[in-house]
Amino acid sequence: MKKDTATYTAKSFDHLRSLTGLSDAQITEHLDLYAGYVKQVNSLVQELAEMRAERGDAGKDFSLAEGTRRLAYEYDGMVLHELYFSNLKPGGDARPSDKQPLGRALAESFGSVDHWQENFQAIGGMRGIGWVILYEDPLNGRLINQWITLHQDGIPARWNPILVMDVWEHAFMRDYKASERAKYVDAFFKNIDWSAVESRLREAAVVRAA
Ligand SMILES: [Fe+2]
Repeated sequence: MKKDTATYTAKSFDHLRSLTGLSDAQITEHLDLYAGYVKQVNSLVQELAEMRAERGDAGKDFSLAEGTRRLAYEYDGMVLHELYFSNLKPGGDARPSDKQPLGRALAESFGSVDHWQENFQAIGGMRGIGWVILYEDPLNGRLINQWITLHQDGIPARWNPILVMDVWEHAFMRDYKASERAKYVDAFFKNIDWSAVESRLREAAVVRAA
């Protein structure tokens, strides 16, 4: 039987230095954690392949069930971190106005770019650990702010992630106290790479047109 091989490599985010309000030490620690997800994905892919080769498939096999479920957690943890780091850059960009495509789309879905941001930040202040993600529904172009608790739970099957904010405590607790998440969210907004975010919206629009 053909063995699956480790196929994922941790991406480099060397541009993430001297962010506003987020220290290099904080980012380095977070990137190390991300690299751990990539390692876990590769190891689980390998282990599941070996399990198939050695024991065959049985749904009642505890290792098969746990490994299969865990793969979704590790894989989404890897991808969400890649989206998070790649929508940041030192100093960020000016927030898009409603004259630009992304700003216009936000205004259409939320009334105004300000209202979108208020809602996104309010969701960022929800109790618990998780992610705040601006999604686009490719079916109709609607933009939605969504809370995701665990990486693999509650991710809408078809929506495209446009902007991803990590609000697990490991994302900010080197720089801020647990009770200072709002300060971290403010810092996050100061470093958003809006051109990267805008390009995700364009990619989603191309898929919709196809
Ligand atoms: Fe994280």
